[in-house]
Amino acid sequence: MSTSLVTVAYIAAIMLFIMSLGGLSNPETSRRGNLYGMIGMGLAVLATIFGPRVTAAGIPWIIGAMVAGGAIGLYAARTVQMTQMPELVALMHSLVGLAACAVGFASYIDPTSVASFSDAEKTIHHVEVYVGILIGAVTFSGSIIAFLKLSGKLGGKPLLLPARHWLNLIGLIVVIVFGYQFMKAPSIEAGMVPLIVMTTIALLFGIHMVMAIGGADMPVVVSMLNSYSGWAAAATGFMLSNDLLIVVGALVGSSGAILSFIMCQAMNRNFISVIAGGFGGGAPAPSSGAAAEPVGEVVPVNAAETAELLHDAKSVIIVPGYGMAVAQAQHTVYEITKTLREKKINVRFGIHPVAGRMPGHMNVLLAEAKVPYDIVLEMDEINDDFADTDVVMVIGANDIVNPAAQDDPTSPIAGMPVLEVWKAKTTIVMKRSMASGYAGVDNPLFYKDNNRMLFGDAKKMLDEVLTVLRR
Ligand code: TAP
Repeated sequence: MSTSLVTVAYIAAIMLFIMSLGGLSNPETSRRGNLYGMIGMGLAVLATIFGPRVTAAGIPWIIGAMVAGGAIGLYAARTVQMTQMPELVALMHSLVGLAACAVGFASYIDPTSVASFSDAEKTIHHVEVYVGILIGAVTFSGSIIAFLKLSGKLGGKPLLLPARHWLNLIGLIVVIVFGYQFMKAPSIEAGMVPLIVMTTIALLFGIHMVMAIGGADMPVVVSMLNSYSGWAAAATGFMLSNDLLIVVGALVGSSGAILSFIMCQAMNRNFISVIAGGFGGGAPAPSSGAAAEPVGEVVPVNAAETAELLHDAKSVIIVPGYGMAVAQAQHTVYEITKTLREKKINVRFGIHPVAGRMPGHMNVLLAEAKVPYDIVLEMDEINDDFADTDVVMVIGANDIVNPAAQDDPTSPIAGMPVLEVWKAKTTIVMKRSMASGYAGVDNPLFYKDNNRMLFGDAKKMLDEVLTVLRR
């Protein structure tokens, strides 16, 4: 394949990726968006393999790597549970970081990669290598820690080392000083020392950055690492002089940054302090929080009473959370919605931006269950309507409906916007026990006079509610 044909294929792939991002911005067009992305990626891979930069001797290696990687990817995609998606995504981000590091070291060690370069081009290439490995290493180690935290293998408590901002600053200064030495190194061997020192510091920084973040702030981290992985891919593109990788990396990096911004708003965190890596300090370690102590008794109800409350209501809002994903209750939720709508009851959904464990988690589940998009509303769209609602059914959600976020300034989730479900006439909270949610804080909603608790697995209880409703 000639260079110009490869360029045409790359431009087509870039357009498909942009259309893919456009499609993914709306649940109704997201399937099409995914399809564009897959075609774009297929085109990009084929154009690269059959392009002028890959020699015939390299093809078996590439095919071998693709078969191995494809098999692992297929296995992971088939076996991973929906609830494990965020940690899988974090693990995938780590691979982008690792790839950037591997490409950086390889292109530095390989003298042929700069053989035809002028001195100025060599200098630029060395800057690309240094910065590329820096971003890659931070992304790699940060994503591994995020994976361990999201999968529960590491606790959610933030690790706040004394003088941690100073440690970061010293690390940054050392990275700059060694960067200077790296650029001045007379030989590859001499340059390896500063490169390895910088890589070690970047790896430690990635670990430190994510370890310092409390459970309640993890959504911001997930989207930030998403953005970092994009910049790591763009850095790889610079090192390999591959325009497609630069553009795609920049697309992922910037869309991840926009997502981080949206997440920051949802969590009421300051975007600039997040970008500067200064977050985590704002959120104290998860504690019981004085004002969030249990303040009374809870009123349990059974499935039949729940069905009766729903049956007698004129308006119902369903608030799904992580527990709905765990129980895989979305299909029963859809059946209940259908049954209530047939009884002319106004049913809508209230979705919190950080409900579940990944951006859009609830929207994906509800779309999978074929819940109509027009009754699925964002927090801002529905928060004013709770006061006029008869029954709010909270299914496996906890932190996102916690009034302590508004009432208790000492709470780890203080200031986080929440769905104001307690303003409805009656709330029914479905969960298995009195256990806390992801942020590890007690929820005063459970003890309010107008709240009822329906204890049990969400799927099992909703099946029972549906049976009674259909009678
Ligand atoms: P959580 O606050 O984590 O609460 C989920 C509740 O579901 C738990 O209290 C649990 O109580 C219940 N549950 C678990 N399994 C269940 C089952 N089988 N049946 C019924 N209930 C079940 O979830 P949320 O309200 O969706 O809030 C999300 C939290 O995750 C926030 O703190 C957010 O910051 C964090 N987070 C979000 C993201 C993104 S991007 N969305 C990423 C990382 C972290 P029981 O154990 O008593 O059943």
